[in-house]
Amino acid sequence: MIKEIVKKRRSIRKFKSDDVPLEKIKQIIECARLAPSARNAQPYRFVVMSGDFKNRFADSVFSGVYSPCSFVKKAPVIIAIVKLKPTVVMKIGNAVSHNDYSLIDIGIAGEHIVIAATELGLGSLWVGWFNRDKANEVLKLKKDENVQILIAIGEKDEDPEERKRKSFEDICEFKS
Ligand SMILES: Cc1cc2nc3c(=O)[nH]c(=O)nc-3n(C[C@H](O)[C@H](O)[C@H](O)COP(=O)(O)O)c2cc1C
Repeated sequence: MIKEIVKKRRSIRKFKSDDVPLEKIKQIIECARLAPSARNAQPYRFVVMSGDFKNRFADSVFSGVYSPCSFVKKAPVIIAIVKLKPTVVMKIGNAVSHNDYSLIDIGIAGEHIVIAATELGLGSLWVGWFNRDKANEVLKLKKDENVQILIAIGEKDEDPEERKRKSFEDICEFKS
């Protein structure tokens, strides 16, 4: 049942150093690949980093003002979700509807990643606080591509309590 997995997921900030089996990473990315996206544009790419490359990446993107997130370096895997250059059709759609659907698409794909990781017994963390310019540089992205968000994955080394949420009434209204 999806609700059980959703309830089980936590932001994990302490990871064991054990490697994550490649097979599990592939299953996780496969879940992201199957995510829906506006006009089925799939405006993303996933870069799975581990080992020395991940360490070099983390050293660059979590320095200075971003150092509060330097603990993420200890995660054995960091996935960068790269937002691809928007096509002309996407630009027009965004302008007409005053929306950037790519960001919604990336949010959905990212949530597929953390939910899949949870189902496989792995810990995960969304990480938005990083130096984007440095991330783009280390990954040698093309102009108009951007690392939109990072997701750290690994074996959990902590078991946090469920974090507080607003009440159902605070976030939902029914109109009929
Ligand atoms: C888009 C996004 C960005 C986030 N960025 C960070 C981050 O940079 N550093 C961090 O420690 N947690 C980050 N988080 C985790 C949130 O703090 C966390 O989801 C929230 O406090 C609720 O806790 P829970 O995930 O355990 O339920 C981020 C979460 C999301 C969805």
